[in-house]
Amino acid sequence: MALRFESLDSDIAGRCGKLVAGTTSIKTPALLPVINPHLQLITPADMKMMGIDAIITNAYIFSRSMQYRERALTEGLHRLLGFDGLIMTDSGSFQLSVYGKIPLSNTETLSFQRDIQSDIWVPLDIPTPPSADRATAERDLAITMERLHEAKRTFGDDAPIAAPVQGGRYTDLRERAGREIGEMGFLFCPIGAVVPLMEGYRYRELVDVVMAAKRTLPSAACVHLFGAGHPAMFALATAMGCDLFDSAAYALYAKEGRYLTTHGSYKADKLTNLPCACQVCRTHTAGELCTSGERERLLALHNLYVTVAEIARIRQAIVDGTLWELVDDRCRGHPQLLSGYLELLQHAERLETHDRVAKRRFFYRGAESCQRTEVIRYQEQLRRLRLGSRVLVAFDSKMRQGFNDLLLFKPPFGPYPRELQETFPIGQTEVPDWDEAMVRQGCRGIRALIDSHPASTVVVACSARWLPVVRSELHGVDVCE
Ligand code: GUN
Ligand code: ZN
Repeated sequence: MALRFESLDSDIAGRCGKLVAGTTSIKTPALLPVINPHLQLITPADMKMMGIDAIITNAYIFSRSMQYRERALTEGLHRLLGFDGLIMTDSGSFQLSVYGKIPLSNTETLSFQRDIQSDIWVPLDIPTPPSADRATAERDLAITMERLHEAKRTFGDDAPIAAPVQGGRYTDLRERAGREIGEMGFLFCPIGAVVPLMEGYRYRELVDVVMAAKRTLPSAACVHLFGAGHPAMFALATAMGCDLFDSAAYALYAKEGRYLTTHGSYKADKLTNLPCACQVCRTHTAGELCTSGERERLLALHNLYVTVAEIARIRQAIVDGTLWELVDDRCRGHPQLLSGYLELLQHAERLETHDRVAKRRFFYRGAESCQRTEVIRYQEQLRRLRLGSRVLVAFDSKMRQGFNDLLLFKPPFGPYPRELQETFPIGQTEVPDWDEAMVRQGCRGIRALIDSHPASTVVVACSARWLPVVRSELHGVDVCE
């Protein structure tokens, strides 16, 4: 019965893993499309055929539905929805946050989720909006935590219960929530109440809130980003260590006549071409898509295809170790996503502790690449080099007389011995023509080398082109041409 999560591959803090709930297991990262039993634009059976093996639905809707309540209790959700994959249910928390009150207690919603045979149950947490003041956020969090304790007491350690991390916009409260939830032994941890941040394109704050929760949650916990549905932000969220997304976006955007892409959405009736390889876009023209009697369903299908394809691309990027490049691509699609990306880079030192040892490649994409985890790690590891008393760092790779060791120079990393030239990251890094940012960052590598080898004298030989930059970075160091 209990939930289990296993990480198989990783990149930055992102993981490709396996989530097991009862007898079902799914690959992560995964997208759980939101199903509303009353509005099935795309049926769960259609989703299964698209390769989707997990969905999420709202237990509160079933509990209030004249049409479905009894059937859900007698048949169970899987038979009722015609879906044999993983079905997660949300409680009425979202309704709670919109209507203020719902006629169902925490234990009642969890019992109901158990009785309709949901694979993952969510307690009645309190989603504190980012606008809430600190006192409210603390009060709400105390209630959520008490309900998690109550859930454990009532249903036991093996019940497949999710433990939402709340705390509003207060990062210390998110840290506290993550720590307590980890100590209680929960291994499935959604990060809650982030929908207003995503709807408002407040990605910088999103990064801070998610990174705060991730700092204290056990790394073995499967982390679900509640309500994240736009494919443009999946790579960013995955890089932070989010494993699951759930989304009504495919349907909500379709309802508004919007066509999703990984770099933003279009009004479908403004499109003259359909820039996508999915079945809908290859069998309809832009005009047909908009005038079809099935417009909403076709748009929803396209939106879902795009979303699922992005998840597959992210999984592949994790296997290859190219997630930073994908994050860089995606976050240039919107200025606020770029802010989120720049904020993520501010957390690179922490991300470095999760990052993997070797990757397929490192493509330099401008100054942002200088702050990547691989650069931080490389420069930190320079202390391990064993060096003689006189060391030459030569940009042109040529030894001069009077030195014990020759180190070559590869920006943005810095100095390296020839023996490392085939190993990651030196050997797999492609840089365009050198720019000032990468040379300056490489000089920080030289500085790290000097600081960690006080018994060695380091001399730098660089070309005339870079002499002023190198001198300005390396005050007090012997820099010659
Ligand atoms: N859906 C989106 N955000 C939330 C949240 O914070 N809690 C729950 N239970 N569901 C959500
Ligand atoms: Zn398409």
